[in-house]
Amino acid sequence: MTETDKQARGARTALVTGGARRIGRALAVALATEGFNVVIHCRSSLAEAAQAAEECRAKGVRAWTVCADLARTPEAEALVGRAIEAAGPLDALINSASIFPKDTLADAPLEAFVANFRVNALAPLALSRAFVRQGREGAIVNLLDARMLLYDAAHAAYHVSKRAFFTLTRMMALEFAPRVRVNAVAPGLILPPPGENESFLEKHAAQNPLGRWGTTADVAAAALFLLRSPFVTGQVIFVDGGFHMKGRVYGA
Ligand SMILES: NC(=O)c1ccc[n+]([C@@H]2O[C@H](COP(=O)([O-])OP(=O)(O)OC[C@H]3O[C@@H](n4cnc5c(N)ncnc54)[C@H](OP(=O)(O)O)[C@@H]3O)[C@@H](O)[C@H]2O)c1
Repeated sequence: MTETDKQARGARTALVTGGARRIGRALAVALATEGFNVVIHCRSSLAEAAQAAEECRAKGVRAWTVCADLARTPEAEALVGRAIEAAGPLDALINSASIFPKDTLADAPLEAFVANFRVNALAPLALSRAFVRQGREGAIVNLLDARMLLYDAAHAAYHVSKRAFFTLTRMMALEFAPRVRVNAVAPGLILPPPGENESFLEKHAAQNPLGRWGTTADVAAAALFLLRSPFVTGQVIFVDGGFHMKGRVYGA
């Protein structure tokens, strides 16, 4: 999109949580490429957030960074207001920040369930409600996980929190219509978890029908499709090579 195209479409602004690194960063840069001004939220990755903002500005849009720990309720509840203070009204909210600790149902302390629930489900709810309170049209895209339809026994507390976020996505789509659309992208095998490398992706590629892993660009393309689609709400796009159809699917 040329500079003139971007100006002709008017400045739209998006807030991307967890936008400093990995998938969140790819989403932020894709939005900038699409002509959105971008507010990049981070918790601890300040330098990466500044670099991501620079990368967005290089696309010809405006970009800001804002830090908040979404495990702290007051910070989660204040984040949208702070983004609006910096950038003006928001047109899009991308809830991408999350935690992904390993644990099991048998052993995880109850506090682990609370911690996952706070960051992965309740903070996005707080942000989404603040976004809706602007009283203007807009769209929200939530980052779920393709494993949520199966049983991710090695990440029990995370799994429960993403299932809750899935339910919240549908509840919000109903409650926030017609002014705000709420959709989700459920990635599958995209990036190795922190501490793992490409061999992790090679090891797991055969688990999905397409037999490979996807890219952050695949996730961004789905998110942009949802933002551009005015008659779509309550939808989840699985960007997972078909993984969600395999194994012990429940509650679909
Ligand atoms: N990677 C995959 O292949 C994959 C697969 C399925 C689903 N997903 C979903 O896609 C989304 C993005 O995935 P990802 O792998 O890019 O995520 P990630 O690297 O695990 O985390 C993204 C960001 O979340 C932020 N974050 C964590 N705890 C936070 C807190 N308490 N407060 C505020 N921010 C916090 C971190 O920000 P700082 O770095 O600034 O601390 C981090 O950079 C997530 O929702 C994930 O569940 C990813």
